Amino acid sequence: MEQKALKERAAWKALEGHYQLVKDVHLRSLFRDDPSRGERMACEAVGLYLDYSKNRATAETMQLLFALADESGLRGHIDAMFRGDKINITENRAVLHVALRAERNEKIFVDGIDVVPEVHAVLDRMSSFAGRVRQGDWKGYTGKRIRNVVNIGIGGSDLGPVMAYEALRHYSDRSMTFRFVSNVDGTDLTESVRDLNPAETLFIVSSKTFTTLETMANAHSAREWLLGGLKDERAIANHFVAVSTNAAAVRKFGIDTANMFGFWDWVGGRYSMDSAIGLSTMLAIGPGNFRAMLSGFHAMDEHFRTAPFERNLPVLMGLLAVWYSDFFEAQTSAVLPYDQYLKRFPAYLQQLTMESNGKHITLDGSRVDYPTGAIYWGEPGTNGQHSFYQLIHQGARLIPCDFIGFFNTLNPLGNHQNLLMANVFAQAEALAFGKTADEVKSEGTPEWLVPHRTFDGNRPSNIILADQLTPETLGKLVALYEHSVFTQGAIWNIDSFDQWGVELGKVLAQRIVPELSDRVALLTHDSSTNALIRLYNNRHILP
Ligand code: F6P
Repeated sequence: MEQKALKERAAWKALEGHYQLVKDVHLRSLFRDDPSRGERMACEAVGLYLDYSKNRATAETMQLLFALADESGLRGHIDAMFRGDKINITENRAVLHVALRAERNEKIFVDGIDVVPEVHAVLDRMSSFAGRVRQGDWKGYTGKRIRNVVNIGIGGSDLGPVMAYEALRHYSDRSMTFRFVSNVDGTDLTESVRDLNPAETLFIVSSKTFTTLETMANAHSAREWLLGGLKDERAIANHFVAVSTNAAAVRKFGIDTANMFGFWDWVGGRYSMDSAIGLSTMLAIGPGNFRAMLSGFHAMDEHFRTAPFERNLPVLMGLLAVWYSDFFEAQTSAVLPYDQYLKRFPAYLQQLTMESNGKHITLDGSRVDYPTGAIYWGEPGTNGQHSFYQLIHQGARLIPCDFIGFFNTLNPLGNHQNLLMANVFAQAEALAFGKTADEVKSEGTPEWLVPHRTFDGNRPSNIILADQLTPETLGKLVALYEHSVFTQGAIWNIDSFDQWGVELGKVLAQRIVPELSDRVALLTHDSSTNALIRLYNNRHILP
């Protein structure tokens, strides 16, 4: 069926009218008029509890959003992804990160080939390798045990691994050291290896393409660092492994493809932390925990694939994200995990959400006439409260927030968990209900100070709760956001799986590199870029 442009869809038009009616309705009155709202607008599935009652949405808003999902063919889009259709149309690729966590007995076909056996073959190889390293059977060149693992990668080949390592540190082998090098800034590699013994260090060069400038530069410098210590080319085989889809480039770098862990073009970089790109995660937490994480992903996949939209967590979150972006014109969305282990989760989500939905061209090649992907950002609570929450509470912008918390901590310490979670509930309550001028006055506040101390409220949030931060829970949380992003992209009719927007800068940098390295005199850029290059070349001290 021909898809109507978003603003031509009946549900969209109905939402436009509905928005005019509800845009000024306060959460105070929504809760006053419906005492059961807090329980009614909540949903629990696969061990995650989502309270979405503190959103500026009525029952009718939700019905209209579900109608928009239907009219946008969301169900068909979901089925197409799970079926292995080439829904990444600009790259003519299937989008099958869900196959990475499929169970052994499932069948998912790409171009007529069942990919599930390949996925499990790689997982089995990773498990055997991780087991050997963790048990000390895989030795360094001088016969020493591997004690340090350095993942070299960037974007999806870094953010997922580092986020998962931090998130699951509790489960990690504490006798091993894990480092993550991403930036082409030499400081990153230098500081990451300065206290490591090359004889005990394993580098994982993680790159889907194995051509990424930053990763290749770091991998070559890591090679030099290693050889500087071990003085023998043959040491490379014991100290370098690769994760990539590009066997030829891995071989060319000098890594034996026997020590390469593969994945496939149907796994996007930002959707790859549960592929072989997660090798560092598996080395840290062990194959059993890694597979538990995959089963968490899978549980959320199945929920997303089968649950009715009314009780489908990623669909609920995705539709509300569309509601805020397109009707309230919210520019940003804050993700606020109240768990120190999730400190890199917002950074991870930035790539997932913004590289996926930062698009302004629809699948049929026209320019959108509505806002798409919001800017995602955040920090763990309670730290953020003492930094940027002022703006969320009293600034002039609407910033929908996701609070993430756990019933039980992995590190019970006195009353800390209650203090932490009390803050989650209090922040969401303060944002939603605020404090009226009358309430402020009744506390004896001088008249002139009243406006400053008044909180408008009506600032929306989701609260996501789970029992404890386990590998399984992490898988569920990541898949929740992956599928929320998918839902948004399906409504906006954009390709959430390409990333052409990162290309131009890369190409221009390649052009400028020789102009800096060789100090080219004749520059043909704009006057600003020319002047900056000249200034740099004058002031940069050659080593
Ligand atoms: O520059 C963006 C990007 O292409 C991301 O999509 C990707 O995750 C990252 O670069 C790294 O790419 P690779 O794994 O091929 O090195």
